[in-house]
Amino acid sequence: MKKMLIDGGDKMDQQNNFNVGELLAGMTIKEKIGQLIQLLPSFVKENASGAVTGPMEQMGLTREDISNIGSVLATTSAGEMMEIQKLFLDKNEKKIPLLFMADVIHGFRTIFPIPLAIGCTWDMELAEKSAEISAREAAAAGINVTFSPMVDLVRDPRWGRVMESTGEDPYLNSLFARAFVRGYQGKNLRDKERIAACVKHFAAYGVPEGGRDYNTVDMSERVLREYYLPSYKAALEEDCKMLMTSFNTVDGIPSTGNKYLMKDILRDEWGFDGVVISDWAAVLELMVHGVAEGRKEAAHMALEAEVDIEMMSSCYVEHAEELIKEGMISIEQIDRCVYRILKLKEELGLFEDPYRGVSVKKEKEVLLCEAHRKSAREIAASSMVLLKNEGVLPLSRDKKAAVIGPLGDNKEILGFWICTGKSEEAVTLKEGISGKILKQNILYSKGCGITDGTDEELEEAVETAKAADVVILALGENQERVGESTSRAHIELEGRQMELARRVLELSKPTVVVLFNGRPIEIRELLSSCSAVLEAWFPGTEGGNAVADILFGDVNPSGRLSMSFPYTVGQIPVYYNNLNTGRPKGSEDNNKRFVSSYMDIPNSPLLPFGFGLSYSKFEYSDFKLDKTSFSKGEVIKASVKVRNSGGYTGIETVKLYIRDLHGSVVRPVKELKSFRRIKLVPGEEQVVEFQIKEEMLRFYNRKLEFKSEPGKFKAMIGSNSSELNDIDFELI
Ligand code: BGC
Repeated sequence: MKKMLIDGGDKMDQQNNFNVGELLAGMTIKEKIGQLIQLLPSFVKENASGAVTGPMEQMGLTREDISNIGSVLATTSAGEMMEIQKLFLDKNEKKIPLLFMADVIHGFRTIFPIPLAIGCTWDMELAEKSAEISAREAAAAGINVTFSPMVDLVRDPRWGRVMESTGEDPYLNSLFARAFVRGYQGKNLRDKERIAACVKHFAAYGVPEGGRDYNTVDMSERVLREYYLPSYKAALEEDCKMLMTSFNTVDGIPSTGNKYLMKDILRDEWGFDGVVISDWAAVLELMVHGVAEGRKEAAHMALEAEVDIEMMSSCYVEHAEELIKEGMISIEQIDRCVYRILKLKEELGLFEDPYRGVSVKKEKEVLLCEAHRKSAREIAASSMVLLKNEGVLPLSRDKKAAVIGPLGDNKEILGFWICTGKSEEAVTLKEGISGKILKQNILYSKGCGITDGTDEELEEAVETAKAADVVILALGENQERVGESTSRAHIELEGRQMELARRVLELSKPTVVVLFNGRPIEIRELLSSCSAVLEAWFPGTEGGNAVADILFGDVNPSGRLSMSFPYTVGQIPVYYNNLNTGRPKGSEDNNKRFVSSYMDIPNSPLLPFGFGLSYSKFEYSDFKLDKTSFSKGEVIKASVKVRNSGGYTGIETVKLYIRDLHGSVVRPVKELKSFRRIKLVPGEEQVVEFQIKEEMLRFYNRKLEFKSEPGKFKAMIGSNSSELNDIDFELI
C-alpha cells in the first residue's frame, strides 16, 4: 500500500491524459460533498423526473444534492445502469460519472456456494475463480464495485452472517481474503471484466455479543489484532480498493466514528489510501448508539475518522459545509476523501467510458453461461463436507432411492445475498439425482416444510421411504433465515424436520442425510443415528448436480470444515485455537471436579475445525523434523508421509499447526500455520513437506509488539485439528 499524494504526485494518467488532482481543484464545495454520498438509484430517477418527494424529501435532499452524488448501490442490470448513468450525467455539471456498487457476495447471476462453504474447499484457486466469474457477470451488468469479500472471523453460529465468512481461523481467512480480491480485481482494474473489491466489515463485526446481529463487540486489543484484524489487512495488502465500516462498537466506539480503527490503524499504521465507505446508514446510527448528539456530530465523527462515503443517510450532505465553515473539519480533509473516490473512478476507467463498455447483448451472453454453470458445479462439489459415512456412500446406481425432506426437490438452495440469482434456475437435489439413475428408481416425498408440516405429509413420506432401498433425507434451513439479521438462539433443525428424520430412521434403511444450511447447526442426534451425513451448505445454482456428483461417487468429497460444529448451543463459542486455562480438562471425563469443563456436555465440539471425510482412506506416518532447534533466519523442515490406502483417488488437506508452549502471554493450544492439498491415487504415497520459520512464531507479546520469543514449541501435523501427531522443537 502506498501513501496518497494529491499535489504533484498525481501523474497524468498515461492512457487518457486525465488528472484527478486538476478535476478536484476545480470542484465547488457542494460538488465535493456530493461525491461522499451514496444513495439508491431511485433517487436519481426521481430527480430526473423533476420530483422532490418521498425518500428524497424525507432525507432532506435537494435536487442539486442528488445531481452531485458520487455513487449508487444495488442496480441489477446493464440497462438499468445505462439509464441511471445517463440521467445522472445529464444533470451533473462536471460530468463526473457515478460509481455503481452492489453486494455481489457469492455470485451475480450464477450463484456459487455461500462463502462459508467456499471456506471449506481450502482451495484458493477455486475461491479466486468464483470471484473472477462473479466479477465478469457483475461487470457485464454494469457494476463497478462489489461489497465483498466479507472477512469477519466467526465463532458463533447463532449469528446468521457466519454464512458470509470463510470461517474461524485468521490464517485461512486471510488467504481467502486475498484470493477473493485477486478474483474480483485481477491485475488491472481497467479490464472491463473486473470490478473493485470492498473488504468488510471493519472491524470485528463477527463477534456480536450473544450472536445477536449488530450487537456490542468488546475485546482486548491483543485479541483484536491477533485474530480479527489480519484478514482485513491481508485483503488490503492484495490491493483491495475499498473497505466498509462495521455496525458494531469496538471498545465502546462504533466503528464508523472510531478514529483509532479508521485513522490510526487503517490509514496511518497500514497506509491504506483507498476508499472507506460506511455500512448502510451507519453514520446516522452514531446517534442511535449514543455517541453523537445529533446528525452534525455524527457527520463530524465519521469525517474525522476519514470515512469517505456515507451510505444511505444524509448527515454529510446536511452538515459537512457547516463543519468546514466552523473550522471543525478542514477542506483538506474533505479533499482527501473526494480524491480517493475520484481516483477509484479513474482507475476503473469511468472517465473514459462511464458505461465501461457494457451492452445488453454482452450481458445476455455472459450471465449464467454454460462455462459459469460448470465452474459453479465444480466449486459446489468441492465445498461439501462428508461428516459421516458407514460405507453406504457412494451409492450404487441400480438401487431404488427415496428422496425425502423439505429440501429434496427445493430450488431455494442459493442461500442469502444472491444478487440477481434466481431460484428457478437452480438444480434441485432430485433433479441432480435424475442425471445419475433411472427415473423409475427415484421416489420422492417432501415429508414436511422447513419450518412446518402436516401429519399427512409425514405419513406419506414414511410410506415412500418403505418402498426404497436407500433413503436420501434432505434437511436444513430456509435460505431466508440466514444472512443479515437472522440470529437464532436455537440452532437445531426447525419445524418437524427431526420428527420426520426419526420416523424415517425407524425403518432401519440405509439413510443418507444431506444438509442444506448456512451455519453450523446442532446435528448430534442425526450424526449418531443415520448411515451418512453430507454437509452441502447452500450450494448455489448447480447445487443438486454437485450433491449428486458426490452421492454417486463421480466426485470424491474433499471439503473440510472451516468452522467447528458445536456439540450444543451452550458450548458456543467453541473453536480450535483456544487457550489452555490453568485447569484444562484433559480427557472427556465429566466426573472430574475443579477443571474447566461442563458437567453435562463435552468440551470438544461435535465436529472440529478441519474435519471432513473422503471416500479414500489417508494414512499418516513418518512425521519428522529435520532438526529440533533453530534460530532466526533458519528453517526447520517438517515432513510427513501420507498414503491413500483406499480404493478411490482423493484429495487430502494436510495441515501444520504450532503451539508456543511458554510465552510472555498465553498462546493458543494450536494455531494453523500451513496446509497442502494433495491428490493421491489408490496406493499412492507422498511425502508432504512444510517449512517452519521464525516468522510463523510471531505474536503480540506482553508489550503488544509482534515478535517471536525463543523457547519451546510443538509442531503438529494431521488431517483435522483434533487428530494430530506432534514433535517438540526449540527456537534459540
Ligand atoms: C450490510 C452490508 C451490505 C450493505 C449494502 C448492510 O446492511 O451490513 O454487508 O454491504 O448493507 O447492501
